[in-house]
Amino acid sequence: EKGGYASFMLKEIAEQPKAVTDTLLGRIDPEGTLHLDEVRITRGELREVDKVVIVACGTAYHAGMIAKYAIEHWTRIPCETELASEFRYRDPILDPHTLVVAISQSGETMDTLMALRHAREQGAKVLAICNTNGSTIPRESDAVLYTHAGPEVAVASTKAFLTQLVACYLVALYLGQVRGTKWGDEIRTVIRQLSEISGSVERVLETMEPVRELARSLASHDTVLFLGRHVGFPVALEGALKLKELAYMHAEGFAAGELKHGPIALIEDGVPVVVVVPSPAGRSVLHGKIVSNIQEIRARGARTVVIAEEGDEEVVPYADHLIRIPATPTLLQPLVATVPLQVFACELATARGNEVDQPRNLAKSVTVE
Ligand code: BG6
Repeated sequence: EKGGYASFMLKEIAEQPKAVTDTLLGRIDPEGTLHLDEVRITRGELREVDKVVIVACGTAYHAGMIAKYAIEHWTRIPCETELASEFRYRDPILDPHTLVVAISQSGETMDTLMALRHAREQGAKVLAICNTNGSTIPRESDAVLYTHAGPEVAVASTKAFLTQLVACYLVALYLGQVRGTKWGDEIRTVIRQLSEISGSVERVLETMEPVRELARSLASHDTVLFLGRHVGFPVALEGALKLKELAYMHAEGFAAGELKHGPIALIEDGVPVVVVVPSPAGRSVLHGKIVSNIQEIRARGARTVVIAEEGDEEVVPYADHLIRIPATPTLLQPLVATVPLQVFACELATARGNEVDQPRNLAKSVTVE
C-alpha cells in the first residue's frame, strides 16, 4: 500500500502535486472565478465579516499563520492566528461578525474542537478546513471546505499541509472576490497562478537529490536552525517542526528580523542554518534584508543552506548549499518552499535510523486536550 515507496511519508510527499490539483478541482471556473458554494455561509454573511480568527495545532497552525498574510493582504479584514490550545483560555473577543477558521487534517484534534465550540458559543461563525469527511470538527462547524489530499497515514503532515494552504488561499481569495477589494485584478491573477502551481511543486520534487545528500551529511549534527521572513517565517517554523518530529533533533525556526534580538547568539562554527529567501520580485526590501542576514550568520561561521528562487543570483556568494525553487508569487511561495524541508527532514531522520511514519511519542491525531 506504500506504492513502492520506503515509507508512507515519501509516498505522501510525492503525491503533493495531485493533492494540490484535487483541492482546486471544480472550485475555479474557466473565467478564473472562484465557486465555493459548498461553503454554506452566504455572501451576505461573508460581506459582514469584520474579523477572521484562525485556530489550529501543529502543522495546521503553520498553514494558519500563512493564511493570515493572505487574508489581510487580499481582503483587508483583520486576521489573527492562534494556537487552538491557547484560544479559549484567554476569553477571546468574538461576535457574530467574527469568522473563525478551524484547520485540521483529521478533524478530531481535541484542542481545535474545543476552540471551535467556544467560538460558536460566543456566536461566531465557524468554517472548518478539513481533510476527513464527516469527522467531528466539520460536523460541529457552520461550514466546511474540504481539502482533497486523500488519506494521510504518516504522522508528520505533508500533503495535508499543502492542501490546507490551498484551502486557505481559496478562502482568502473568495472573501476578496465576494467583498470586492482594490486588489480585484491581483486576485484574478493569483487565482490563475494558483491553478498552475502544482507544476511547480512537481518540479521541486524532481530536483531533490542534492537535498537528500545534504540531509545525510548533517545526520550527526545536534542543531539545525531555520530562518524566514513574511510567509517564509511560518515555512521556517514548519521546517523546524518536521525536523523535531522526525529526526529528534534540536531545531528552531526564527523570523530573520529577530536574529539580531537574540538568536544570533546561537550561531557558531559549523551550525547549519536553513534560510528561506523571499521572492526577489516585488518584495525587494525584504529580499535585501535577508541577504544581509545570510551574510551576517555566515561571517559568524554558520553553514548556510539557502532556499531561493531560480534566477536569484544575489544569494549565490553566501550559500554553502543552494536549493532552487521555481519563481512563485510571494504569497504562494510556501507551497513550493516547504517541499525541500519535508524531504530534508525525512531523509535526515532515515539517516539517523528513525522510523519516519511513526515517530516516537507522537500520534496522528490527538483526541485529548
Ligand atoms: C499533531 C500531529 O498531534 O496534530 C501533527 O502529530 C498535526 O502532525 C497536529 O499537525 C494537528 O492535527 P490535525 O489533524 O488537527 O491537523
